[in-house]
Amino acid sequence: MHSTVCFCFFTFAIILALLSLSLYSLRSLQAPLCNCDVCASYLSSRWSSQFDNLCDWYTHLLQNSPTGTIHVHVLRNTITANPGNVEHILRARFDNYPKGKPFNAILGDLLGRGIFNADGESWLFQRKMARLELGSVSVRSYAFDIVRGEIETRLVPLLTSRMDCGAVDLQDVFRRFSFDSICKFSFGVDPGCLQLSLPISSFALAFDLASRLSAERAAHVSHVVWKAKRLLNVGSERRLRDAVKLVNALAEEVIRERRRLGSFATRNDLLSRFMGTVDDDVYLRDIVISFLLAGRDTVASALTGFFWLLSRNPEVERLIREESELVMDGSTGDVLASYEQMQRMHYLHAAVHESMRLFPPVQFDSKFASADDVLPDGTVVGGGTRVTYHPYAMGRMERIWGPDCLKFQPERWLQDGVFRPESLYKYPVFQAGPRACLGKEMAVVEMKSVALALVRRFDVRVVGTAQGARFSPGLTATMNGGLPVIVRERGASSRPPL
Ligand code: HEM
Repeated sequence: MHSTVCFCFFTFAIILALLSLSLYSLRSLQAPLCNCDVCASYLSSRWSSQFDNLCDWYTHLLQNSPTGTIHVHVLRNTITANPGNVEHILRARFDNYPKGKPFNAILGDLLGRGIFNADGESWLFQRKMARLELGSVSVRSYAFDIVRGEIETRLVPLLTSRMDCGAVDLQDVFRRFSFDSICKFSFGVDPGCLQLSLPISSFALAFDLASRLSAERAAHVSHVVWKAKRLLNVGSERRLRDAVKLVNALAEEVIRERRRLGSFATRNDLLSRFMGTVDDDVYLRDIVISFLLAGRDTVASALTGFFWLLSRNPEVERLIREESELVMDGSTGDVLASYEQMQRMHYLHAAVHESMRLFPPVQFDSKFASADDVLPDGTVVGGGTRVTYHPYAMGRMERIWGPDCLKFQPERWLQDGVFRPESLYKYPVFQAGPRACLGKEMAVVEMKSVALALVRRFDVRVVGTAQGARFSPGLTATMNGGLPVIVRERGASSRPPL
């Protein structure tokens, strides 16, 4: 009897919860029931019969739109690849386009109050503090040393051990590499993911799962489903809760230990630097976890895209080698270039930027309009609706990059052999305006160091590049099925000694 009453009560509670969530969601969504071609194709996934990836379909629609802007009504989403609009959203009317509550809810469990998930005063405080730290010479050289150490002692030995051993998933290798690097940089802790025996730490696994499941929340047309699952603690939401718990527990453990040792004043990792200013350990944890998310998958994704393109364009590889040999004194030097030498490699710098034009790690990024607005191309944006700028589509727009926009051509970034930056609103790969990426320089140096070390030491060839790239859904672009490559020793005569 007692159990029957309990069961009825529980069922009633679930129905009530689902009902109130549905009402809340319907009110907050106000999603028009739209039957236009774009919405019908989106809802029925009809687009997938013609395109490998959602981002390719959006690119096609944006290329065909006279303004470079489209609406997906059922998502209440205005998507733009128009540089004038991008500047308006990211700079001119920055105040009207915060991350907004829906985004805060999606990433809130993993990121808490961290910079990626903050607006207003809390964001400004973290931004000022982070800019100060990331701009300091000691933190930058600490980051550079971490990357060099990881390349020299782990990445190159690992790939050497895999030479002529069949295909290696380079995307997985880069993910391990960037996780080790960003954990050392942010926490001063080495998870050891890239060791020869290839262990994978529980922290890395939990972090991966938490970011993937958080991203999946964003793919739902309505918030009702994931919010109901979270309320009931079932399915993917239960797994997300467990993963976040583990990530938080490990981060808190590191913070406690650092406080106990009192060694933070002499260390250069971000956690130690922030410990001097922030007393609240939960806030500190949130701040540092945002950095893990910022610096991990983005760099791995950028490197994956770079090697995919390089494998299809051996001439670019040849020119990178040629330049490095010139700058590094006739190829007899180390595989690793100094910071100063890399500054002189304009072709390499151009190749790295060019690869992210075609394969931006953050393919699109959304804001939520606070109030009604009109974009420079005349598009009307309703208050409370989503506005997305789309770096992936922008990199493939003929009207932005010319008729050869689909070609991997580092030369487009060079004038008389010197790197010439493009407008950030034409190339918002690192976002732009007051909220632009704070790790851009660090990321580019990391990419160049890895690219150079591998190109100078190995011949890396992707297996089966005949097809276009296919991506898995997520916060950052990830290639479906990884990036299988064959690694061979570069011709002994042209290879620099280790
Ligand atoms: C190729 C690598 C990278 C790319 C393409 C990239 C791209 C971006 C983008 C698009 C944003 C804006 C995200 C948003 O507001 O929704 C962003 C923000 C940010 N990035 Fe990066 N990022 C990269 C690497 C890094 C690294 C290595 C770090 C730090 C160690 C970093 C730190 C940050 C931070 C702190 C923000 C937040 C800025 C703010 O909200 O004020 N990023 N990045």
